[in-house]
Amino acid sequence: MTRKGIILAGGEGTRLLPLTKDRSKQLLPIYNKPMIYYPLSILMLGGVKEILIITTPRDNKEFRNLLGDGSQWSLSISYEEQNNPNGIAQSLLIAENWLKGSSSVLLLGDNFFFGHGLPDLLKNTFNNSNGSTVFLHNVADPSRYGVANIDNNKNILDIVEKPSEFISNWAVTGLYCYDQDASNYVKEIEPSNRGELEITDLNNRYISENKMQAQFLGQGYTWLDMGTHESLLEASNFVKIIESRQGIKIADLDNIPINE
Ligand code: DAU
Repeated sequence: MTRKGIILAGGEGTRLLPLTKDRSKQLLPIYNKPMIYYPLSILMLGGVKEILIITTPRDNKEFRNLLGDGSQWSLSISYEEQNNPNGIAQSLLIAENWLKGSSSVLLLGDNFFFGHGLPDLLKNTFNNSNGSTVFLHNVADPSRYGVANIDNNKNILDIVEKPSEFISNWAVTGLYCYDQDASNYVKEIEPSNRGELEITDLNNRYISENKMQAQFLGQGYTWLDMGTHESLLEASNFVKIIESRQGIKIADLDNIPINE
């Protein structure tokens, strides 16, 4: 069965106020495109054609107006709403009926990936992931993220959400492959201290079942999350520099080869 894609594009975007007072963070411009184009391009590059976009109730219509049913890019795009930001893992409950037992790739709508060979890496991982796969990226400030504890054989021992003590520099990015068990596993998760169904708790469940793989995004890859004013500007500048210096287009949805 083919893997379906979920983009989680809800949340309140409180760190971006007042930009997000009346619109979704994931519709804000990153240089010359709306933010949502970048995660959408990642799913397309990985060969995913059936995509569910989860938004707040307030913003759902705007996403539909922007992206439609996806047929203009040979995609099938559906929409769902998340009433409250009750956690990233909740997306797999919201998506359960739509998934109809398929495996999935979940991507946060504010995550940006770029690098040489990324399309092949995505396709290979989406096609070959068993259980779950997380994508890890080296960061200077791991305390802001989910962080992986890695053994000498590069196996993940566990993941700690926003660790207060140093574990490693390997942050867990907002791109996750799951098998058909994910929605049922989420039903067994309790909300965390911050009241959320944590994606890290789901990932640790896969680790405890010995069903977790790690994909290390090395130095040739750039990963940004675009959740603050600084990172919004950084991402815009990054796209501008690559597009004008290298003459290539990033997230050029009209020109992504879809049948590879
Ligand atoms: O960006 C990667 C990080 O994302 C991971 O390393 C962490 O393990 C993971 O927990 C998450 O960290 P944050 O706490 O920084 O996530 P944040 O609350 O900022 O949410 C990330 C995006 O997901 C954001 O664009 C809003 C959206 N979101 C979040 C929640 C909790 C939703 O749409 N609904 C939600 O309920």
